[in-house]
Amino acid sequence: QWRLGDFADETIAAVRERVGTSRVICGLSGGVDSAVVAALLAKAIGPQLTCILVDNGLLRKDEATAVVREFTEHFKADLHVVDAEERFLAKLAGVTEPQTKRKIIGGEFIECFKQEAAKVTDARFLAQGTLYPDVIESGGSPDGPAASIKLHHNVGGLPEELGFELIEPLRDLFKDEVRRLGLQLGLPEEIVWRHPFPGPGLAVRCLGEVTAEKCRTLREADAIVVGEIKAAGLYRQTSQAFAVLLPVQSVGVMGDGRTYENALAVRCVNTDDFMTADWSHLPHDLLSRISTRVINEVKGVNRVVYDISSKPPATIEWE
Ligand code: XMP
Repeated sequence: QWRLGDFADETIAAVRERVGTSRVICGLSGGVDSAVVAALLAKAIGPQLTCILVDNGLLRKDEATAVVREFTEHFKADLHVVDAEERFLAKLAGVTEPQTKRKIIGGEFIECFKQEAAKVTDARFLAQGTLYPDVIESGGSPDGPAASIKLHHNVGGLPEELGFELIEPLRDLFKDEVRRLGLQLGLPEEIVWRHPFPGPGLAVRCLGEVTAEKCRTLREADAIVVGEIKAAGLYRQTSQAFAVLLPVQSVGVMGDGRTYENALAVRCVNTDDFMTADWSHLPHDLLSRISTRVINEVKGVNRVVYDISSKPPATIEWE
């Protein structure tokens, strides 16, 4: 608490001094880190901030809309939303290998971001949500420059290529401190407590080839999974909860007819550091509600399974 109390004020003052009258670009992802950076920057330099959100078509249900609402209504930020769904899906067509998907998405993200950033002609700085654990993991020393954003998973890197000076106001903070700071800055709980979401998004939860149709199915199912966990009051107690669309079809019965549709996995884990994780022992009645609702409400899914694998040896994501 003692640290954070002054942290916001001191950081805001430091950013103002460093930035002067220049313009700063900040990429928004829907996640808490980038949202807190943007909120901090909005407080510090207001109209000199331009946010860019690349909507790759692989975000969770209503994710882009929630971010847009928050940053245009609450912070009145200058926000550029790049509607890039078609571009990403076209590049992903026919691709099934998980790391190849990641590379394509990472590369396309840089392209989209670069094109949009080029329209912001007077920008000098790029702000990003590097946290203390990222600094350590990417091999940097706490005092040196962070190698780049979350490179342990994501391919490519924004900063050097784009030639901006970096602003990383969260690089001394841990995740729980970032959340507290977010609340202090007035961000809604919905954004502050949102579970982490991988950069490649739904693409690594749509096993095999990614299509618009599969993403739609997965998005609806995922919203039910998360919605029911929230309704049961268990969202904050779990670290990550989501749906995975399996490339498996199985037989079912619906009324008098036989169905042959996709299976969906529900993945829910508890972890402190995401390096090891336990599957969450969710109440059976909750699992039952999730299953019933998904099968009744989501077209194309006729079977729901619960993932009871811990990490290691399983990973949290399926791809
Ligand atoms: P795994 O599946 O490796 O996931 O147990 C550990 C944590 O990392 C997230 N994750 C990613 N995050 N880009 C990201 O930004 C990625 O490619 C990626 N892959 C996994 C995962 O959601 C979990 O929180």
